[in-house]
Amino acid sequence: MTRTTPTPDLAPEFPMPRSPEHPFDPPPRLREAQEAGGLSRVRLWDGSTPWLITKHAHQRELLRDPRLSADFLRPGYPSPIRIEDKSTFISSFPLMDDPEHNRQRRMVLGPFTVRKVERLRPFVQRIVDEKIDELLAGPNPVDLVTAFALPIPSLAISAVLGLPYSDHEVFERNSAVLIRQDVPPQERAEASEELQHHLDRVLGDKMTDPADDLLSDLGARVLAGEISRPEAVDMTVLVLAGGHETTANMIALGTLALLRHPDQLALLQAGDDPSLAETAVEELMRYLTISHTGMRRVATEDVEIDGQVIRAGEGVVLATSIGNRDPDVYDGDPHVLDLRRPVKQHFAFSFGTHQCLGQSLARMELQVVVNTLYRRVPTLRLATALERIPFKHDGIVYGVYELPVTW
Ligand code: HEM
Repeated sequence: MTRTTPTPDLAPEFPMPRSPEHPFDPPPRLREAQEAGGLSRVRLWDGSTPWLITKHAHQRELLRDPRLSADFLRPGYPSPIRIEDKSTFISSFPLMDDPEHNRQRRMVLGPFTVRKVERLRPFVQRIVDEKIDELLAGPNPVDLVTAFALPIPSLAISAVLGLPYSDHEVFERNSAVLIRQDVPPQERAEASEELQHHLDRVLGDKMTDPADDLLSDLGARVLAGEISRPEAVDMTVLVLAGGHETTANMIALGTLALLRHPDQLALLQAGDDPSLAETAVEELMRYLTISHTGMRRVATEDVEIDGQVIRAGEGVVLATSIGNRDPDVYDGDPHVLDLRRPVKQHFAFSFGTHQCLGQSLARMELQVVVNTLYRRVPTLRLATALERIPFKHDGIVYGVYELPVTW
């Protein structure tokens, strides 16, 4: 194929609109960009024109390339959040480079290993069962987001951190503000401050009265001089926000996708294949790839990829939602939800040094949900038309604001 250098002047705006008829699919223009060779340019809210990477192979190469930085303070970093003043961002290791990124990441990694997460499975099974009991005893129809999708990951991450679940209103409300693309600066600053203030108080309590949880562990590291108290607070904010909003969106959007694909839902309800939950969760993750604004990086040196040079200082947007639908990687039709599809590497949790810290926890929670909810509530169905469901087009994470269901 003859390659032409993508023209920044003609770059389309990003994020692009999704098709209302196909709300589970990435925007049609992303597919066109992938079919045209995978390397192009887009225009962001601030007028910058970073590279857009849409092919799975290119994403794989670039996400593990140390010449691409996740440091949001570097000039050229293509911020998904529409904000000029970066000082109001909560800065922590997800937006830093190694070695400091890795030093801080290792401080919070402990509870999220596969082994530690497996120990939490009975607890998660219990809260899923309890929430379904409450659902069945409560009003019908109900919003599945508030009644089920949000409480499960909030309860789980609260337990890991050692945060009282009674605090959930404060952290859910403020985290929801932080992950929107376009929020008035004042509102963003207030949400950050309220969260930081609240978590600082809990951290202080843990420093005087420690328990067996992540916040107590971070408190001990502060006392030992390994990190500052504000750093520990900001790490907690990101683990907390990452730990509930994302999984909640997967539970709600995944349920909606299954309700719209009854043949696939029936496979889960049949319950005759114990390994199905695992492959089903991977396929739902791949198919839905809820990172709506893609992975963001900036080149620190010139990087050559497939005959094109990304110059030092240029931004890079890796649209993993379309990378995870790349026909060169996935057999059959990658745009079809097929819960029996053999699991192949997907980037719904990203790849490389920043790949999701909480992926084992998210996977386990989602496996428990798909193994339990649809069998215990076999008549679960939408209580409204698909067109009336409010999708999160304005988030950095895709999902639904509400999911009215009945049974
Ligand atoms: C279905 C649920 C989830 C999805 C789709 C998801 C997605 C992602 C993605 C795509 C990244 C990488 C961003 C990048 O490369 O720039 C990431 C990083 C991260 N996630 Fe998750 N996540 C989920 C659940 C969780 C949970 C349960 C936690 C709880 C601890 C968590 C905590 C984090 C943290 C702390 C990072 C930053 C890692 C680093 O920079 O080293 N996530 N997540």
